[in-house]
Amino acid sequence: MFSISRSDFGPDFTFGAATAAYQIEGGQTDGRGPSIWDSFSATPGNVQNGDTGRDACDHYNRWPADLDLIRDGGFDAYRFSFAWPRLIPEGTGAINQAGLDFYDRLIDGMLARGIKPYATLYHWDLPSALQDKGGWMNRDIAGWFGDYASLIGQKFGDRLHATATINEPWCVAFLSHFLGIHAPGYRDIRAAARAMHHVLFAHGTAIDALRAEGVKNLGIVLNLEKSEPATQSPEDVAATDIGDALFNRWYLDGVLKGKYPDALTGNDFFARHLPAGYEKDMEVVSRPLDWLGINYYTRGLYKSAPEQLGFPIAQAKGDLETTEMGWEIYPQGLSDLLVRVSNDYTKIPLYVTENGMAEVEGDSDPRRVDYYEAHLKAVLNAREQGADVRGYFAWSLLDNYEWAEGYNKRFGLVHVDYATQQRTPKASFRAFQGLLHNTK
Ligand code: FCB
Repeated sequence: MFSISRSDFGPDFTFGAATAAYQIEGGQTDGRGPSIWDSFSATPGNVQNGDTGRDACDHYNRWPADLDLIRDGGFDAYRFSFAWPRLIPEGTGAINQAGLDFYDRLIDGMLARGIKPYATLYHWDLPSALQDKGGWMNRDIAGWFGDYASLIGQKFGDRLHATATINEPWCVAFLSHFLGIHAPGYRDIRAAARAMHHVLFAHGTAIDALRAEGVKNLGIVLNLEKSEPATQSPEDVAATDIGDALFNRWYLDGVLKGKYPDALTGNDFFARHLPAGYEKDMEVVSRPLDWLGINYYTRGLYKSAPEQLGFPIAQAKGDLETTEMGWEIYPQGLSDLLVRVSNDYTKIPLYVTENGMAEVEGDSDPRRVDYYEAHLKAVLNAREQGADVRGYFAWSLLDNYEWAEGYNKRFGLVHVDYATQQRTPKASFRAFQGLLHNTK
């Protein structure tokens, strides 16, 4: 049980649970085209245990029971993502009617249960046919993504409560094109620099496309970390500034100020790989938004590493308690980030669109209950400091396919037995249920 009550958040605060298409849907035989995660996960060595999203949680067939769980938990909203290759198998061109029908059923199922649909257009499952043309490295992706956004607007726009373009552009660009950890698995500075710009240019282009279709309440979801120096030495503080620019400011400054941070545009190792004339796109990159989503998991602790070519920084190991991902548990970082965004960037409504922890398998998860309680208190604390936080989404409704970690890392409020697809609510689910059904 949580020691906070729903009324602490006021009557209009939105509580939700979040998932993403590739991580839960399965259902790959309805005409859906291949995505970069299908081939990345099929390539030996990329994903723990060789796990793939082929079956995942079979949400494609089990969605009614999953929506029942969201309703029974007392959640107001469900944050889900559309699979681009399910709707447009080749990324551009022909539309898959079975894909349209699936999301029709899913969205109508939410509305029938009184659950508000919070949609994300892109949560990492790029159609492979577009990767063949360079994917996020190709400037044309803005047009491809804009057309896909128009389709979503036409078919579903009037039923969506809120719509985000991209989930976690840092992961789309840097993690996937410089660190090589996510699909398409590049480790290339030019690929990364181009993806870092094109992902935000595509975001702004999609905002225009959605607005042209009359879709309301548009945003983007950024993953932010609390960047901190390992020591107060000037070298570690300088390393932290680069880390913060790479992780946070590239996206915050780009989207909300229309300018990338000097720490990167003035860094020759990086800047000479940016697409020529990117400055002309910044007006599109920074289109006005109706809300901003922030995904928060942990802090980034930096130390100087002059021996590193390129960015002379390294991650230091902190001494806080960690989750099963090895991520430090640091609720204060969430308060600090929400207040920073509110003070330094924008007064549009903020949503915590993901927060949660991986824990060992089982339906007794007291550490996760504590994690959620501490982070919910951090949200209250940020609100007391003036941040206009309007909602909070737990990651995740279900144990699911945790990308390069496969099925071993479990983030769910609800346990999934992958052999039988049996769902079992955990103590953390019961804790939310208690909080959300107690409206006093
Ligand atoms: C975020 C992703 C989400 C999930 C969590 C643990 O970066 O958006 O899909 O993997 O991390």
